[in-house]
Amino acid sequence: MSISNRRVTVPLANRSYDVVIGAGILGQTGSLLREAGLNRQIAAITDEHVDELYGRNLIASLAAAGFSSSLHVVSGGEPAKSFAIAEEVSESLAQAGVDRSSLILALGGGVIGDLAGFVASIFARGIPYVQVPTTVMAQVDSSVGGKTAINLGAGKNLVGSFHQPALVIIDTESLTTLGARERNEGFAEVIKYGVIADRSLLDAMEDVSRQELTEIIERCVQIKASIVAEDEREESGKRALLNFGHTIGHAIESAAGYGKLLHGEAISLGMRAAGWLSTKYAGLPTEDHHRLIHLLKQLSLPVVLQDDIPTAAIMERVFTDKKFHRGQIRFVLSSKFGSAFVSEKITRTDLESAVESLRESIV
Ligand code: NAD
Ligand code: GLY
Repeated sequence: MSISNRRVTVPLANRSYDVVIGAGILGQTGSLLREAGLNRQIAAITDEHVDELYGRNLIASLAAAGFSSSLHVVSGGEPAKSFAIAEEVSESLAQAGVDRSSLILALGGGVIGDLAGFVASIFARGIPYVQVPTTVMAQVDSSVGGKTAINLGAGKNLVGSFHQPALVIIDTESLTTLGARERNEGFAEVIKYGVIADRSLLDAMEDVSRQELTEIIERCVQIKASIVAEDEREESGKRALLNFGHTIGHAIESAAGYGKLLHGEAISLGMRAAGWLSTKYAGLPTEDHHRLIHLLKQLSLPVVLQDDIPTAAIMERVFTDKKFHRGQIRFVLSSKFGSAFVSEKITRTDLESAVESLRESIV
């Protein structure tokens, strides 16, 4: 292993694993797997676009380390997080002879990570998997923590499992091929970490072109690792803080039709709404809410809700969200950037007003 790689451990007793972060380390995948003792036949799952860019490099790295592997390519985008694609991938794995002694490797963005992780959690009653995230979104958030999911028409991520990866390999160089839209939507989750845990990330996002992206990614991974270590299955309320902006954001993403808004774009709207509720019910200064909106706009993230996404359709999905606890929504608010808490006092009317507040244009 190159000594310049950074490493963050997710400490979860016998399910602990490392997140290795470095520039150009996709080509070290084979040796990193050997080093982690993951000496198994590999089934890599990716999407068409990522396959074109990085599939060959990955397979070459695996072959160089003596692994036999198969590659399973799906069409990308949010619609891939479905039962139909999970079934298609599972059939393809079975045909390739994947069994309980194999390892699944997810190469791609959050969609591939969530889908491959879900399949890994149920194929042959559960086999290990490794995440090799290639988007900002997946590197700062979705590849770490073991939440896997597919979507239903009724709502985002409604079917899934907790299944921790055995290793996460983050090649920061893979971000150089991302389009501006995909890059910026990932920054929405960095802003989330800034709001809930470390306001210095907000300063960093304010001048992102000057920032060392590796450091930002490492900081986000550290925050996520410590939250997941404290509350792996989102039971105590600690992990729920990661859902800042997600209750309304998920509902908007689903109501718009999967794939219309990128995940981070929907979360941008959800964070504006959560910020608005924070000013009303948690004492967040209005200037801070304006700062949040300005920052999202600066990253070309949407802050105004399109007219063709009706509030009723959003509200319907808010109420099928997993964040309900005994009939009451657990909504994440912030009184002061750098910290957040879960409130059970937000009512349906409040949520509706927050959604409506998103229709007001920002000058
Ligand atoms: P994505 O996986 O759809 O990737 C976005 C696009 O970028 C795709 O078209 C993909 O082909 C392309 N792409 C990927 N890597 C590339 C690269 N290096 N260069 C060029 N193009 C590349 O979307 P995403 O934003 O990465 O992930 C969103 C998903 O992540 C959502 O489904 C969301 O629910 C999920 N998510 C999950 C968690 C979790 O904890 N499990 C957390 C956050 C988000
Ligand atoms: N992205 C939210 C979580 O991992 O809990």
